[in-house]
Amino acid sequence: MVMPHNHRMWAVIGIYTGREDNVFWRRLKGTPNKIEAAGAKALCEMDAEPLGTDIIHSVINPINKLTGAIHIYGGDFLPSNAASGTPCHYSNIGQTENG
Ligand SMILES: [Fe+2]
Repeated sequence: MVMPHNHRMWAVIGIYTGREDNVFWRRLKGTPNKIEAAGAKALCEMDAEPLGTDIIHSVINPINKLTGAIHIYGGDFLPSNAASGTPCHYSNIGQTENG
């Protein structure tokens, strides 16, 4: 399982094999380090999902098979996420835009 994280830029995920189940989260007003589930979507082969800049998601592969996906990011992903010590699939939810 990939814990909830925010890419800090828009992204598009396209699945070319397998399946991934996404849970989408939102921050709770007044408690920016807390989140609650806001939706979910199963992505299968041939599915693509756009993720806006502020989207927080977690991912799980629910099948006993490799899942492969192409991720397109709307920016220089590694430097933007290096500060959190994680590429796409880190847990950076406790961090705000200011760190
Ligand atoms: Fe992600």
